[in-house]
Amino acid sequence: MARKGKVTVVGSGYYGSTTAQRLAEYDILETVVMTDIKDGWAEGLALDLNQSRPIERFETEVIGKTTGQNDEGYEVIEGSDVVVITAGLPRKPGMSRMDLLEVNAKIVRGVSENIARYAPDAVVINVSNPLDEMTTLVQLATGFPHQRVMGQAGMLDTARFTNSVAEKLGVPVSTVKTLTLGSHGDTMVPVPSACTVDGKPLSDVLDAEAIDQLVDRTRNGGAEVVALLKSGSAFYAPSAAAARMARAVIEDSGAVMPVCAWVDGEYGISGVYLGVEVEIGKEGVRRVVERDLTDTEKQGLKAAADAVKSKAADVANL
Ligand code: 2OP
Repeated sequence: MARKGKVTVVGSGYYGSTTAQRLAEYDILETVVMTDIKDGWAEGLALDLNQSRPIERFETEVIGKTTGQNDEGYEVIEGSDVVVITAGLPRKPGMSRMDLLEVNAKIVRGVSENIARYAPDAVVINVSNPLDEMTTLVQLATGFPHQRVMGQAGMLDTARFTNSVAEKLGVPVSTVKTLTLGSHGDTMVPVPSACTVDGKPLSDVLDAEAIDQLVDRTRNGGAEVVALLKSGSAFYAPSAAAARMARAVIEDSGAVMPVCAWVDGEYGISGVYLGVEVEIGKEGVRRVVERDLTDTEKQGLKAAADAVKSKAADVANL
């Protein structure tokens, strides 16, 4: 099998390292690069992953590289088709994602400048929080066309919604379809009108109160995990989502996924990074896919756009 493509994961904490692992185990890429600022950490994890190859049976080569305070080591990302930014701090219990704005902005800006320098043709997938604002910053700091910068959130929030519905009804997750749009935060917009169970509308199988509870649980899905872990935040579901997005770019698959993408006219909203469904290809976002929404869902999406926009000016100065 011909393996091709290079994906770099910047930041090798739980989120970054599980993303690298998933990408390597797909066995479709020539190279997966993982970087970290902790001396030797990325090299150690890469060696460990490579040593798992005879057992898990994949040939993708994993390269680890420590990056320094003065940007040493970033040359390793040269030629990457996709760069996934996981660098940044996770939440602690009681924190909102927005509490990370200033500290993560410094980290994400520095990483973005190195991506622009060493991988000027890459598609960038940001996962650092606050997600929509940091994705906005990545585009500003790289200067890349909007379509080449995306954020990972909608896939994750949708997976959480699907899992909650499946658990509530005691049915296989494969029989449930759900969707979330909007921001990866308080103005997240779970979309019950797009949800089905075994092909039946969600409203046929659950009453309005039960749906509201599931919608709330979805909005708080990240915080629920943070509260249980007590240190750090979720990474299994988030890395599954980020790796699938990178794979769709590498395979130029045209898969339609909910992600944080630049919205310019769709749903009557313009000039903002927001969670919407998009078709993904080698150029990043091929197009935003619009669907019919209820009036409440449309209002929710507009409110999310306003909330992200209100932070956009601050982000440019961070
Ligand atoms: C979450 O929702 C990490 O923001 C991510 O778990």
